[in-house]
Amino acid sequence: LFSTVPTAPPDAILGLNTQHRSDTFTKKVNLGVGAYRTAEGEPYVLPVVRRVEQALAKDPSTTHEYLPQDGLKHFCDLSAKLILGADSPAFTNDRTVTVQALSGTGALRVGFTFVARFLSEETAVYIPKPSWSNHKNVVVQSGLPPTKEYRYFDYGTGAVDLEGMIEDLRAAPAGSVVLLHGCAHNPTGADPTKDQWEHILQVVQEGKLVPFFDNAYQGFASGSLEEDAWSVRRFVKAGIDMLVGQSYAKNMGLYGERVGALTVISSEGGNGEAIRSQLKAIIRAMYSNPPKHGAMVAASILGDGDMFAEWEGELRKMADRIRDMREKLRAALIKNGTPGNWDHIVKQIGMFSFTGLTAAQVEFMKNKYHIYMTSNGRISMAGLTNYTVEYVADAMKDAVVS
Ligand code: LMR
Repeated sequence: LFSTVPTAPPDAILGLNTQHRSDTFTKKVNLGVGAYRTAEGEPYVLPVVRRVEQALAKDPSTTHEYLPQDGLKHFCDLSAKLILGADSPAFTNDRTVTVQALSGTGALRVGFTFVARFLSEETAVYIPKPSWSNHKNVVVQSGLPPTKEYRYFDYGTGAVDLEGMIEDLRAAPAGSVVLLHGCAHNPTGADPTKDQWEHILQVVQEGKLVPFFDNAYQGFASGSLEEDAWSVRRFVKAGIDMLVGQSYAKNMGLYGERVGALTVISSEGGNGEAIRSQLKAIIRAMYSNPPKHGAMVAASILGDGDMFAEWEGELRKMADRIRDMREKLRAALIKNGTPGNWDHIVKQIGMFSFTGLTAAQVEFMKNKYHIYMTSNGRISMAGLTNYTVEYVADAMKDAVVS
């Protein structure tokens, strides 16, 4: 029965981890997956996370009972406040439903399944071009037609192609879902300015489009949790139907714990129980209920003023180290005389730099220097250290001039 199953292609991002792991070259560098690394290149457990975990382990009231399908209520309430703001208009008139999700991907997966069931049959999902490579997969696996793309990035200026984006969104049929990266666009590191967000909102409202915000980097773009939630809050203020996904993988370093949330906001309100019941039914058939540990850790931090402040400090430090690596990579490329202008590396924000390297140059660097990055030329800046930055810059030079 199973002998004819074909091999699926490796994942564009996670497949690089497998390749990097089996590479025995001592100077190998993994700039593929977006995961924070310390100045020594090691995975990082935030001290505040470690302390909460130790306290939970010692607490005799900690159990391993099932959570309800929609997860830990306390965690969901705090997550909604984190992204929407405590005094958000979304918290009035039964307009907001938040459920725990398996990190950002899980929030998208449950959210798009909900979209597939309850939005018009012709629903088209528009994602930016380029976008995180998994968006397309999640949409199709959720039972929706293949995604359509809207222009997003101007390769000439390295900024958002607002005109192209507006033109494409204007052409989208009413009721279409538009995926937007709340901040720190992955992979380009180019976000709309506040004025540009206003323009996008106007087109979304006029076209009766439904925004689905993917927020995997709150706190990583500007270093401020508040600032990075600006776009979502602005759209909420407009009082439209929308969905919001959240992840604590990057900002709390809880990658493997799969901690996230999905919030559905309806413009009219009054139908929260029905929406929640449908989300719970979707979750029940998918994985019954979400895991508890990571959500308890996140909720402990979100709900305690001192720990929250410590977390914000840690976030700023992580964002600063990434910014420092941007400066150092650009400086090394200038110092070694790599042809081209590398200013975009310091202008882009978030975890990634969209270097402009071609797929052939990426392949060259992998084969000759054992440096791993996605084929679109994206590098995870957090994967760089003071020890590897020159090696990477020299490899980039070789790739560019070869
Ligand atoms: C990335 O873009 O590298 C991260 O979001 C990790 C992932 O799951 O792809």
